[in-house]
Amino acid sequence: MSAGNRPPEQRGHRPDEAPGTGGRGPAEPASFHEMWRDLRTIGRAADTGGYRRYAWTAADADCRAWFQAQAEARGLACELDRNGNQWAWLGDPSAGDAVVTGSHLDSVPDGGAFDGPLGVVSSFAALDELRRRKAEFTRPVAVTNFGDEEGARFGLACVGSRLAAGQLTREKAYELKDADGISLPQAMEAAGYDPAAIGPDPERLARIGAFVELHVEQGRALDLSGDAVGIASAIWPHGRWRFDFAGEANHAGTTRLVDRRDPMLTYAQTVLAARREAELAGAVATFGKISVEPNGVNAIPSLVRGWLDSRAPDQATLDTVVAAVEQAARERAERDGVDLAVVRESFTPVIEFEHALRDELNKILGGAVPVLGTGAGHDAGILSTSVPTAMLFVRNPTGVSHSPAESADEDDCLAGVRALADVLEGLACR
Ligand code: GLV
Ligand code: MN
Ligand code: MN
Repeated sequence: MSAGNRPPEQRGHRPDEAPGTGGRGPAEPASFHEMWRDLRTIGRAADTGGYRRYAWTAADADCRAWFQAQAEARGLACELDRNGNQWAWLGDPSAGDAVVTGSHLDSVPDGGAFDGPLGVVSSFAALDELRRRKAEFTRPVAVTNFGDEEGARFGLACVGSRLAAGQLTREKAYELKDADGISLPQAMEAAGYDPAAIGPDPERLARIGAFVELHVEQGRALDLSGDAVGIASAIWPHGRWRFDFAGEANHAGTTRLVDRRDPMLTYAQTVLAARREAELAGAVATFGKISVEPNGVNAIPSLVRGWLDSRAPDQATLDTVVAAVEQAARERAERDGVDLAVVRESFTPVIEFEHALRDELNKILGGAVPVLGTGAGHDAGILSTSVPTAMLFVRNPTGVSHSPAESADEDDCLAGVRALADVLEGLACR
């Protein structure tokens, strides 16, 4: 029986349930538990139980302080790079050929506890495990917390890693604005950070010989295969497009239907088109965010802004879906007397993780680890264009992610810690 189908009382503890000390395995989960307990309250919304850890906010600062405290508690040298990413070093970074692990601590609106934090917590726990094993490192090792992976505040995903890898210029980053019109540099400055420093960081990336990101799986492949841990093969190409539908504000009670220029109508048809085109192509397409002006219950909107997130197994399919959605939106806009502007806000091409490193991980982990692709984006995908990169996935019994209901069983999390420790040992202690 898969973990997802087991009744709750038969499941392993989830770390966020803060169970007692029973059932702990050899990876010394006390440390894992304490980290999880300290982190779990940061940025958590009392009404939904979801996380709202957006870039350069107070919750983000608390996550960063937590990361620094974990680094210091382990005697790791904590650095904040020019793009706001945190690094905790064991050994001399300038020696080069470092093995780096980590993930992110920010969240989507009302995100789950595991997406990002599981990778960071597991990285520190894996280092603890290696110390217990008295592992002797022959390469420097670092744990990272990449800034603004989700792009929840400024619309662009993986800002910290993109800047470092030169995939986002300073000029473009300066143009990013949040929903309140606060620009990225203003937000950084308000958080006490110098935005003038941001930009490509090739020297830092050149120190890295391998980057391995552990992440909760955001689907049910491992649950269905009955495995606690998997290795990533590829990330689907994906992006975000903003559709601005501009119509005419008018009275909801007195304006005849034929006289309306209602952008909500055009938007609604576009949502249906996105679903249809994704289904036809074997892709996914989602309108998950919308803003309406003036947002009055008795007024026809003047503007509806909807964000399309679309992903597909390959670039040609993604291009076809997005073009078809835009075409459908334009045709409908014409009919509704609505103006349409479409802007691509974020894009990541297909990522195929390096085969040699992927095979090495599989060998270290005993050779029978499932290898799976994903439709979710990651900093590892961004970094893979600059450094050899791999990912480990930890089983998610429901597959739910980007939701407060996101979960992973404690036993699986600890299996992930051990797998990551094995990988770090195999790569950095030869
Ligand atoms: C990030 O988690 C994404 O896939 O959008
Ligand atoms: Mn995510
Ligand atoms: Mn993530």
